[in-house]
Amino acid sequence: MISDSKKEEIRDAADLVEVVSDYVKLKKSGSSYKGLCPFHDEKTPSFHVTPRLRIYKCFGCGASGDVFNFIMEMEGVGFTEALRSLAERYQISLPEQDTQEYDEAQYLREGIYHALRFAGVYYHNRLKESDEAKRARSYLKERGYKQKTIRRFGLGYAPSKGEALYEAASDTGINEEYLEEAGLIKPSKRGEGFYDTFRGRLMFPIFNPSGKVIAFAGRVLGDKDTAKYINSPNTEVYNKSEVVYAVNFAKHAIRRNDEAILVEGYTDVLTLHQEGVEQAVATSGTSLTPGQMKTIHRFGDRITMVYDSDTAGQQAMSRGINIALAEGMDVRLMSLPEGDDPDSFVRQFGAESFQEQKRQKAEDFVAYMVHRAQEDGRWEDPMEKKKVVHNILDSIAEIPDAMTRETFVQHLNKFAKDFYDRTLYNELKKKLQEKKKRRKREVKRQQREKQREERRRSDRSESKTAASSPEKKKKKPVQQGKLPEYEKEIIRLMLMYGHEMVEYIGSFCNGDHFEHEQLGKFYEDIIQRHREDKSIDVETYAEADHPFPELVGEIVLERHSVSDRHEEKTGLSFKRDHNPYQTAKGALKALKIHYLDRTHEQLSRQQIGADEEEKQEIADMLKEVGRQRALIQKSSLHELFPDPDSDKEQPYTEKVFEYKPKKPLD
Ligand code: UTP
Ligand code: MN
Repeated sequence: MISDSKKEEIRDAADLVEVVSDYVKLKKSGSSYKGLCPFHDEKTPSFHVTPRLRIYKCFGCGASGDVFNFIMEMEGVGFTEALRSLAERYQISLPEQDTQEYDEAQYLREGIYHALRFAGVYYHNRLKESDEAKRARSYLKERGYKQKTIRRFGLGYAPSKGEALYEAASDTGINEEYLEEAGLIKPSKRGEGFYDTFRGRLMFPIFNPSGKVIAFAGRVLGDKDTAKYINSPNTEVYNKSEVVYAVNFAKHAIRRNDEAILVEGYTDVLTLHQEGVEQAVATSGTSLTPGQMKTIHRFGDRITMVYDSDTAGQQAMSRGINIALAEGMDVRLMSLPEGDDPDSFVRQFGAESFQEQKRQKAEDFVAYMVHRAQEDGRWEDPMEKKKVVHNILDSIAEIPDAMTRETFVQHLNKFAKDFYDRTLYNELKKKLQEKKKRRKREVKRQQREKQREERRRSDRSESKTAASSPEKKKKKPVQQGKLPEYEKEIIRLMLMYGHEMVEYIGSFCNGDHFEHEQLGKFYEDIIQRHREDKSIDVETYAEADHPFPELVGEIVLERHSVSDRHEEKTGLSFKRDHNPYQTAKGALKALKIHYLDRTHEQLSRQQIGADEEEKQEIADMLKEVGRQRALIQKSSLHELFPDPDSDKEQPYTEKVFEYKPKKPLD
């Protein structure tokens, strides 16, 4: 066991602001710091760090705790690991062994981390010391990588002998289960034993944002009749679709510049960092994914993509545009002279010219797409040009924010003067509607799939047990207790008005705000579907598993009379709202006030058994809750919940996008 005094010592030594700053852009505000909450999606900061009290608290989602809680949440680790990593970071010694209660998953994860850490050190030492690694050392030297860079990035060498790592790790008592789960060894195909995944390769450790080794990439040396890189498989601690290479080294620079530079290769990242361009990151092991873009977005809003100048690189960059736009990033693209990649460019011309090139040549995506078409001669050919304009509009349609979309349509119009801006707007509008339809179709498809699956399942069970009665299943009760009206309203609005309403409501609240547990879960399920771009409507949930259909019944039917014709079709009837946003605002206000009242009650209860210091902390929090409540109470709905950027005046259900000519045409 680690003593309480040790915990206190670590808590005191750890700089909460510094730790949180690894993940959140913080701004000083009075005696505390404020930023966008890392635990929920929000657009205005409600996440507070109070160094004096050594606590953080989000007044949006209610997340709160001390430096240990923060690390546990962010890194998905247990208390002991959080404590160990902080002890390490702030150089506080810990007693050798401690037996804390773990659950199995935590044990597994920590075992994997340990195996990876061991492998990182092992490979690195082999690179420094072994005879066999000579060619790796001279290769790195030839490419101009300095000792400092090699050390910082923890480069290594995997011996070509089949089980070198496996044996070395086993000798120090590392369980083979962890090595295998870490993707470092594989069971031998001929019966007994294991062999190393990486053999005779230059090793690049891949780190998570806080700098822990979570995977490896191994590059061939010399002749290439095998794959150039071998990457670790996905594991308990490594999810390729979210991991960005070097984000741990780049995060501070990204935050400082509010810009990330995205390149293709590990070697590009190394060279850029070595020459002082520290906001460079790369995708690893996959082409760019939305999850990776989200990871980058945690640290900054702007991204400049600089891919290799070859065709493959340029095509990959074009695909990256839409991913960046859909994530709401401000994306710029930079082309390098023919035959170059960032690595070769910087080695030839230096980091200064790279920066200069970026200042001069990096373009917004519309300019980039037009210029590429001009270079290929597609801009001169009328039909080809039309296709290019369509592609650009497709990209614009990915942008979540309506004003930004408009800005780029006008920008496009400057390049494509022979189109009326009205024509461009109308095409965009069509594309937005198509996107919506596609979402709907996708849901329908999934529904059918699910029904088919259910039918298969019930066919099977019926053939086995003849006495199964379908009626029995349907009559499970909804959770006891009256459903709060305003909570039902929020769900109803999201179901009836779909993604844009979900986006709007989602920026102000969180599942924890709901008093009714099932409704809170319902809310989170909707948010999840929204994130996955699955469509959201009454029908979907009316056909989902318990308790959704029952809840949908309560939410949609109770309040509104049932129209016979509708009932025949769907069993449900909807009310049309005069102004859905206005309804949402009222419900949101009630939700927030009730949430704060419950928080107040809970805190007051906690105060009873607390010691002096805790009492003071709680008193401060109570004050803040009171302040928030008063603020909400006295503010207008409009101030509290500003309209989304799109469609200010009208309920957006009527029209996705309305073109208003600034002056009469002709
Ligand atoms: P590159 O072929 O450009 O490699 O692939 P590189 O890292 O820039 O290496 P050098 O400079 O040619 O020596 C770019 C990225 O694509 C992924 C790796 O992430 C690589 O860094 N890749 C490439 C693989 O995952 N597997 C491969 O076989 C090849
Ligand atoms: Mn490359």
